[in-house]
Amino acid sequence: MTGDSKNQRVLSGIQPSGLIHLGNYFGAIQQHMELQHEFPNECLYFIADYHALTTLHDADALRKHVFDLAATYLAMGLDPQKALLFRQSDVPEVTELTWLLSTVTGMGLLERAVSYKDKVSQGLRASVGLFTYPILMAADILAYDSTMVPVGKDQVQHVEMTRDMATRFNETFASKRTPALTLPRYRLSKAPYVPGIDGRKMSKSYGNTIWVFRSGKQLRKRVGQIVTDSTPLGQPLDPDKSVTFELYKLFASEAETAELAGYFRAGQRDGRPFGYGHAKQLLAAKIDTHFAEARARYQQFQADPQQVEDVLQRSAAKARALARATIDRCKRACGLQ
Ligand code: ADP
Ligand code: TRP
Repeated sequence: MTGDSKNQRVLSGIQPSGLIHLGNYFGAIQQHMELQHEFPNECLYFIADYHALTTLHDADALRKHVFDLAATYLAMGLDPQKALLFRQSDVPEVTELTWLLSTVTGMGLLERAVSYKDKVSQGLRASVGLFTYPILMAADILAYDSTMVPVGKDQVQHVEMTRDMATRFNETFASKRTPALTLPRYRLSKAPYVPGIDGRKMSKSYGNTIWVFRSGKQLRKRVGQIVTDSTPLGQPLDPDKSVTFELYKLFASEAETAELAGYFRAGQRDGRPFGYGHAKQLLAAKIDTHFAEARARYQQFQADPQQVEDVLQRSAAKARALARATIDRCKRACGLQ
């Protein structure tokens, strides 16, 4: 369901839940960076700190995660001239809209939310906030008249629910010719599945991640922990069954990928035995180089937090103006103004 018009307003929210790993980068951040160039001045990215409060109740950790994520986005190339980067909680209009939407949202719709059921079955307390999480997310999207919402597969249902809520609101309150709310579409990222060092999906909850800003010896050590079979050194290897190879592909050119596949299949490189250990060295070097500049910028932002805060504040002011217009339209539609 990819929007095909050039007139897009792009929006995505990112949960501040700790360090960023390769899965987050290739599954989400890389696409966010590309979209700001494809749709300059039409991309809004925010740090979903209110959503994080449904699962994280540690004030210092939340503050740190929010700052680190903002610094990561700026380090990865978010250009504040082209895209907005702000804290969800700096736009109070979103919580106003959440209430308006909640008055037209059926319990049944929320009860069908897979992520709520998953979280509760994993032992999370079933708070009202966790249950109404999709309404807050719908308000995030609808407040800015977003048309394209780049997300991972796990969030698709929430975007569908957003469309349901917007349709219901428009039908309940607004005339069909001038609907108060714009219906968004989701867009899946190109690399929706990055494997972790144990071969399962890379995820913080599996403890199988490779952090993007790890480098040098620590990075080599982590890459060294990628699971492999016990084929002896020098024997042919199947690249398509190797996590190392799959991760390498994400960083390498087609020619480099083909070259590595050749070493795998031959079990040799330049007449010498080639094994998983060698492939891992190549992968670690790729990761290290790929993020070198971003890592340096990240350190600069860590040393100058005010610079990050300024971007967040300036972006929030612009985002608020957009959200205010939507809220006023909605309030008029339902008779509050
Ligand atoms: P985690 O599973 O580590 O908690 P999140 O659920 O916070 O990661 O994911 C944040 C973003 O990164 C989402 O857009 C998600 O789709 C993407 N993402 C996370 N892990 C992966 C992965 N292994 N492959 C591709 N994308 C991923
Ligand atoms: N729920 C999303 C996640 O966990 C984060 C999010 C909050 C979001 N509001 C959003 C994503 C609006 C896209 C649009 O990843």
